[in-house]
Amino acid sequence: MPHVVTNRCVDCKHTVCVAVCPVDCFHEGPNTLWIDPEECIDCAACVPECPEEAIFEVEDLPAEYNSAIEENAEKCKTLPVIVDTSDPLMARPDCKKS
Ligand code: F3S
Repeated sequence: MPHVVTNRCVDCKHTVCVAVCPVDCFHEGPNTLWIDPEECIDCAACVPECPEEAIFEVEDLPAEYNSAIEENAEKCKTLPVIVDTSDPLMARPDCKKS
């Protein structure tokens, strides 16, 4: 089962997850990232890197984030791949420091 980015990423977007992904499965939207389920190899390297704890393996996904499964797959069809980290967005007051 692939990993998915949840809305905990929204407006924080640290992008440190991108640096450890061995298969370039992250895609970038204006205020969040998404994981392409067709590319994710389930290495889980990104999970402990995210300061927002925004990334889950599908089987461990809390029910409140169930819609993220379809959203990740759909968004990755049109949004560009991101391969380099960038400055965190940090546009939400509760974003953690990275
Ligand atoms: Fe988002 Fe966490 Fe990556 S906030 S951009 S999933 S490191």
